[in-house]
Amino acid sequence: MDGGGPSVLERPAALSAEPVLQFAEVTKRFGAARPGGTPFTAIEKLSFLVREGEFLSVVGPSGCGKSTVLNLVAGLDRPNEGSIRLSGVPVTGPSLDVGCPGAPSSAMSNSA
Ligand SMILES: Nc1ncnc2c1ncn2[C@@H]1O[C@H](COP(=O)(O)OP(=O)(O)OP(=O)(O)O)[C@@H](O)[C@H]1O
Ligand SMILES: [Mg+2]
Repeated sequence: MDGGGPSVLERPAALSAEPVLQFAEVTKRFGAARPGGTPFTAIEKLSFLVREGEFLSVVGPSGCGKSTVLNLVAGLDRPNEGSIRLSGVPVTGPSLDVGCPGAPSSAMSNSA
């Protein structure tokens, strides 16, 4: 039987080549702890690609920036510099397409 449109395996190369997630020179600073202090740089010029079918784990010691990265992917926070794209679309805020298991438990408190 002829299904009509192109199958998943027949998608144009340009479409399937688009990274699912792209960080380009992303820097995130947090405000100074006190007036006149120096902002804290949590991540600096972070660049990576995740392509379709790949699996990414973010690991590292406490305070290395894991949650910062996830919050940026989820659009819960904005980078000071650089760009973040999901399937080619710039992340400008939270989206229903991105779940965030690390959300505070208070965000789930009405689900039980
Ligand atoms: N809102 C904030 N204001 C100031 N500094 C912050 C803020 N959020 C995170 N930081 C700092 O940025 C750095 C990275 O924090 P982050 O929470 O991303 O680390 P983490 O790798 O998730 O740590 P953990 O394993 O403990 O969860 C830490 O030094 C943290 O103190
Ligand atoms: Mg964390």
